[in-house]
Amino acid sequence: MDDRNNPYSPGAGLRPAALVGRDTELQDWSVALDRIENARSARAIVLHGLRGVGKTVLLGDFHQQAEDHGWVSVMIEANTGRPLREALARALYPVVRELVRPKAGDKLKNALATFKAFSVKVDASGAWSFGLDVASAQGRGDSGELETDLSELIKDLAEAAQEQSRGLAILIDEAQDLSNDELKALCAICHQGGQRGWPFLLALAGLPNLPRELAEAKSYAERLFTYREITQLEQDAARQALTRPAAAEGVSWEEAALSYVATEARSYPYFLQEYGQATWNAAVGTTLTYDDARVGTVSGQAHLDAGFYRARWERAAPAQRAYLQAMAQDGDGPSQSGEVAARLGKTPTGVGPIRDSLIKKGLIYSPEHGQIAYTVPGMADFIARQPQP
Ligand SMILES: Nc1ncnc2c1ncn2[C@@H]1O[C@H](COP(=O)(O)OP(=O)(O)OP(=O)(O)O)[C@@H](O)[C@H]1O
Ligand SMILES: [Mg+2]
Repeated sequence: MDDRNNPYSPGAGLRPAALVGRDTELQDWSVALDRIENARSARAIVLHGLRGVGKTVLLGDFHQQAEDHGWVSVMIEANTGRPLREALARALYPVVRELVRPKAGDKLKNALATFKAFSVKVDASGAWSFGLDVASAQGRGDSGELETDLSELIKDLAEAAQEQSRGLAILIDEAQDLSNDELKALCAICHQGGQRGWPFLLALAGLPNLPRELAEAKSYAERLFTYREITQLEQDAARQALTRPAAAEGVSWEEAALSYVATEARSYPYFLQEYGQATWNAAVGTTLTYDDARVGTVSGQAHLDAGFYRARWERAAPAQRAYLQAMAQDGDGPSQSGEVAARLGKTPTGVGPIRDSLIKKGLIYSPEHGQIAYTVPGMADFIARQPQP
């Protein structure tokens, strides 16, 4: 069928035509917004899970919800190589500007001054203007110590937003790439904000090692956040992820085709989108048949191999590939690090640097001490499909 009407959306962070199976998380966020608006405390939310399960899309919905509530909301990505201070300053600038009113209240003036002082550390040329005469605040947001500066900035911004009956939401994707100091600062801010009742909410999304990184940053992190693991969809939701976008275009799925694709995709959101798209393209009529599904999954998988998997495979150096290959015996894992090292004829310490660099690249993570697993579902099968060296 015509690809121009194809309703599926495989890709990083692309909102699906039907966002299904995430009611719990959306509800968590909506309750948190409501609680803050009613001057009650609410925990920050941490979404963690493998590649392609839909963390970014969900965070995008959080952002949208916050804006729909009239909140000041920014969403940033932590893995761009920019420090958190810079990423935040740049993302906040347009929304802070948008707060400016001709008759700015005191809180707003304070916030603008603090923002300026905070941002001068990012870009001293000071291209941060607000159409108001604001001098940067001396001694607020500019000590150079991230935790202090960020906490002053968030406090002042949240209070300025409150002056306009709004809250402040900050959403950070790929948060596993934040440094230990940055995570520490964020924990401290959530802690203070909760105690002092700032109208502020934080949500983080990242790989499965994010909860552990937070716990290592601050011992009280466990009690500070609501942790939600984002996984494959439930079977029913997976079927809806396939049927609903098609139904909106007047196209239906044959039962056998639907079961086949949902099973082949193992209910992983990204794979459902990819296989759904390819099945649609393989079909000729307005019913997607079992034969279309067979053709679609083969071509969908070829597409994943050429993009989703290959992009990651090619980021690995030869020694790193050998390590990934040694893990593949355990399927989707987890593998015991010691065994992987033994398969390579090395000691665990000997392969330590390779293991660490793969973690840094976000290709593997350690689910528990002494264990290692792929962050990408289906990686072992992909490796098995590669020609052996
Ligand atoms: N709840 C959902 N229902 C249906 N499709 C979804 C859902 N969530 C995400 N998707 C689809 O899955 C794909 C991956 O989504 P997304 O980029 O948000 O995943 P991610 O967890 O952020 O992945 P990564 O770790 O690689 O950044 C997209 O094509 C998106 O349209
Ligand atoms: Mg993402």
